[in-house]
Amino acid sequence: MQTVIITGGTGLVGTALTKVLLQKGYRVIILSRNTVPAGAGNGPAYAQWDIAAGKIDAAALAEADFIVHLAGAGVADKRWTAKRKEEIVKSRTESSALLANVLATLPNKVQAVISASGIGWYGGDEKQARPFSETDPADTAFLGETCRLWEAGMDPVIALGKRVVKLRIGVVLSKAGGAYTEFAKPIRWGIAGILGNGKQVISWIHIDDLCRLIIFSMEEEKMQGVYNAVSPQPATNKALTIEMARKIKGSFYIPLYVPHFVLRLMLGEMSVEILKSATVSVAKTEAAGFRFLYPSIRAAVEALEAKPGISRQGE
Ligand SMILES: NC(=O)c1ccc[n+]([C@@H]2O[C@H](COP(=O)([O-])OP(=O)(O)OC[C@H]3O[C@@H](n4cnc5c(N)ncnc54)[C@H](OP(=O)(O)O)[C@@H]3O)[C@@H](O)[C@H]2O)c1
Repeated sequence: MQTVIITGGTGLVGTALTKVLLQKGYRVIILSRNTVPAGAGNGPAYAQWDIAAGKIDAAALAEADFIVHLAGAGVADKRWTAKRKEEIVKSRTESSALLANVLATLPNKVQAVISASGIGWYGGDEKQARPFSETDPADTAFLGETCRLWEAGMDPVIALGKRVVKLRIGVVLSKAGGAYTEFAKPIRWGIAGILGNGKQVISWIHIDDLCRLIIFSMEEEKMQGVYNAVSPQPATNKALTIEMARKIKGSFYIPLYVPHFVLRLMLGEMSVEILKSATVSVAKTEAAGFRFLYPSIRAAVEALEAKPGISRQGE
């Protein structure tokens, strides 16, 4: 049985990934900043790290065959004050530096590290001439710079001779939280809130496909370097919102455009990211052999709104 450490494994992606890994027969150790009591039965184990103090559970590290590095302060959780921006960056760069340091100094048999990054790496607007691919340079705005530093933080691990896969993750669609549940809130009241002019392209990924892609990146030894983690069919904000509204409310909803200035008042600088249009290519990921269960927004929304028990997760 192989063991996977998931940093930040208590979050949205980590919780779903833990479930799939356990179903597939992996042992999971969730690395958290907090003490989490292990539950009964065949659930995950927990270990602690203190990033500021440079401390990690050495016994947990010694057992790991893979590390999935998801930890980081939530990018969309709070308004982007200077302090919050620093926390968003440091939580990623300092945790990556700690991982690189312990992998270099403590006994371990880690074969590969799969690290999250984001499509915030890319810039983009509605006039984008071609989809972004992995070789495009980082945007100079805050998220682009954050992703650049985050990805660079994994380079010392590559220098150790470990296989590293960096996944530039798109907007994750999950019923358990994140963007999908935020979009769904007004819809459940009958209002389909279209952001800005609704023409901005969202490169998204269904949570089940993201978990499958993370595991594919672990298991497929030829996976190395940067890959976009987005579905092959990005959707405009309007198309996504209307698809959700149709599925959730049938014909009982009213489309409502939320203008730029309202979003700016509500969200501050983060509104720029919400209104950013980025079509991101997944050609390299598909060429590596990965196949999506939910390539279209219709398939993704159908699956997310399906009754429990008919999810295809883990297939
Ligand atoms: N969800 C998306 O749409 C999306 C899109 C693109 C990229 N990503 C990236 O993918 C990763 C996983 O996403 P997610 O949605 O699962 O994130 P999440 O729900 O916010 O979970 C991230 C985890 O990171 C840990 N964490 C939070 N603040 C931290 C800090 N200041 N220092 C160190 N660790 C901290 C927490 O675990 P503990 O409290 O247990 O330590 C938390 O559970 C994140 O890095 C995220 O930026 C996500």
